[in-house]
Amino acid sequence: MTTYAPQIPVFDEDPYAREHLIDPHPLFERMREAGPAVRLSRYNVLAFTRFDVCRDILADHATFISGAGVGPTDLRKEKAWRTQGILETDQPSHTVMRDAMSNVISPRSVRALRKSFEGFAEELADRVVAQGEVDAITDVAEIFPLRVFGDAVGIPREGRKENLLAHGAMNFSAFGPENDLHREHFAAGQGTHEWVMANCARESLSEDGLGARIWEHAEAGRVSDEQATLLVRAMLSAGLDTTVIAIGNVLRALAQNPEAWALLREDPSNIRFAIDESFRHESPFQSFYRTTASDAAPGGVPVPEGSKVLLFVGAANRDPRQWGPDADEFRITRSASGHLAFGMGIHQCVGQPVSRLEMEVLLGALVRRIERLEPVGPQVPFVHNTLRGWKSVPVRVVAG
Ligand code: HEM
Repeated sequence: MTTYAPQIPVFDEDPYAREHLIDPHPLFERMREAGPAVRLSRYNVLAFTRFDVCRDILADHATFISGAGVGPTDLRKEKAWRTQGILETDQPSHTVMRDAMSNVISPRSVRALRKSFEGFAEELADRVVAQGEVDAITDVAEIFPLRVFGDAVGIPREGRKENLLAHGAMNFSAFGPENDLHREHFAAGQGTHEWVMANCARESLSEDGLGARIWEHAEAGRVSDEQATLLVRAMLSAGLDTTVIAIGNVLRALAQNPEAWALLREDPSNIRFAIDESFRHESPFQSFYRTTASDAAPGGVPVPEGSKVLLFVGAANRDPRQWGPDADEFRITRSASGHLAFGMGIHQCVGQPVSRLEMEVLLGALVRRIERLEPVGPQVPFVHNTLRGWKSVPVRVVAG
């Protein structure tokens, strides 16, 4: 068992306990104020919650590697539940996969998606107005990416809803400890991995989607067939749940802050600021790990070689040292860019332009038709080890 410096504050509380996952911010604040790192006694791991230290760790990919897994398990010692993909790979093989992915998700290919995203956003926004009262999660946030992102990748429409959400939740729960929640999400995800893998195959994908474009890189010999499969898998496992949650979170924040919705109606160019502020305020992917390839001292805290370090980007994105004393408030007039919701450094989310486009187009269609959203009825949190979102957010739609 690794021994850490005795002066590092020790926390006996479990940030993965349900009560903290439902409302993580009070514990995050205590961890941030205790020091640049705290030792979680339950897991004997150092947890980082301050913005500057998390950013510096993410930027130093040579010292803080991903190849040993971005969950608590050291994948050099224990086999992963699935083959390691781009997220859990270091240079040089990371570079090969990343180059192919960046080429496929390019500014040009993302621009080309706008028209089809807009078509479905208009249809969905009309439906929302006609319904008058909707669940912002199940009637909007889940529906939109399942249709437009699934079409963009080029997978069949049948089976998406039943497989992709449960698969994403299972996948992301492996970036936290093997607790009851992890077991619940793995039980719910049974069979979905096989569905996803079958749909990553070249012959299952439509000819014009992002998936087929990945396979062109395999045909040109730039990536292997296995790498192509893993890249399409990465799109499907990393790109769906996160965007569903992100749309749900921004709609919830805007329903609770009608003055922010009014600013979007006044000037739709504010939509982009609302999106970034929402990513900062409630980050969909809250926490993940790195492993030290050599002795290190992030924020002056000694960390021996071979240690896992736990990064709470959801806490860093609320750090008042970075965001000011009102960091807990959702305020779209602040400059939220530079947040860590998409990570930082060589593994920074390659799919973020797609998610941002989905959110921008959908919010645009909604604000053009809706004067405000009013929260009605109880909201149900989505309790998950590493994702932060809601399962149900009922709202009344005031058209105008
Ligand atoms: C709002 C939605 C999203 C959020 C919050 C999000 C978050 C993240 C974060 C935090 C990372 C970095 C993890 C780390 O450093 O260990 C990441 C990486 C990644 N994301 Fe996303 N993501 C989103 C959407 C997407 C989409 C739509 C796609 C696919 C089209 C995608 C594909 C990936 C891939 C492939 C990586 C690994 C990149 C690498 O290792 O080089 N993500 N994402």
